[in-house]
Amino acid sequence: MLRNIARRSFSSTAANPYKVTVLGAAGGIGQPLSLLLKLNHRVTGLNLYDLKGAKGVAADVSHVPTNSVVQGFTPDEEGGLEKALTGADVVLIPAGVPRKPGMTRDDLFNINAGIVRDLASAIADHAPNAAVLVISNPVNSTVPIVREVLKAKGVYNKKKLFGVTTLDVLRSSRFLSEVVNTDPTTEKVTVVGGHSGLTIVPLLSQTKHKSVLESNKEAREALTHRIQFGGDEVVQAKNGAGSATLSMAQAGARFAGSVLKGFDGEKDVIEPTFIENPVFASEGIDFFATNVTLGPNGVEHIHALGELADYEDEMIAVAKETLKKNIAKGANFVAQSK
Ligand code: LMR
Repeated sequence: MLRNIARRSFSSTAANPYKVTVLGAAGGIGQPLSLLLKLNHRVTGLNLYDLKGAKGVAADVSHVPTNSVVQGFTPDEEGGLEKALTGADVVLIPAGVPRKPGMTRDDLFNINAGIVRDLASAIADHAPNAAVLVISNPVNSTVPIVREVLKAKGVYNKKKLFGVTTLDVLRSSRFLSEVVNTDPTTEKVTVVGGHSGLTIVPLLSQTKHKSVLESNKEAREALTHRIQFGGDEVVQAKNGAGSATLSMAQAGARFAGSVLKGFDGEKDVIEPTFIENPVFASEGIDFFATNVTLGPNGVEHIHALGELADYEDEMIAVAKETLKKNIAKGANFVAQSK
């Protein structure tokens, strides 16, 4: 019975059916991410790929009674990756290894860079028009890796490549609400820069709590530090068993949901995300997270940074130094792989 379901081709009665593929679906992020995507009514086909275990995850998730057909793929079967990717509108990449205490995201580069490069190559071959959402760390370098691979294969579309920085946005809402004692669902913070430590720049001066936070430098700096290093809290608490998986899955699912809303023509879908961005390109930093309006073709509009407090200008200057190196590291890796 399950096998029959798995063999059905994608089909739906929904007006706009969307096929979504998760690469790394059996991992710590991949499993809850797959479940959350199964709950999204815009997703009508959900393809789950991993080196091992994807078929089990697919069978499990497929029992949730929503309007999508779930299929699992592994490399054991001929053309597993190709089948997982063919026809995808959105591809999410959570594949790779997580941090352990004492590691930075950049310490994952040596393992994850090659994994992401090879998956990007398969995306270029089998899903060249898909929106690609990169979760695998270090995002500041893996997103440029994907760009270089897609460019080399002549299929790069800057409107459709995203580094998922949504977890910084979720943490900002949550942590800010704890400081100002409000409902976190009402808190909205734009987070710009990148996705690691000091490259994560929450624009607290643009929140409705500007004056409170500006009158209490100590609280503001503590909040900023917590947002920038929120990932470390989880890494330490998991004590060697990995990094954020559940909140990251929520972040990936939310961002994928926003991309699909944009595809569907919904108006004013705005999310911060790490994209090819002209804002500091003249300084050699051609990826930067800012607010982006998502539309039928992916990135519709890249928002300006807006008015910044002096302390935010300073944080952006610091972020740019690291980002420049992280972006170059990704691009050089692909150049040297050739
Ligand atoms: C996070 O922000 O939690 C993730 O990027 C995982 C990590 O290594 O911190």
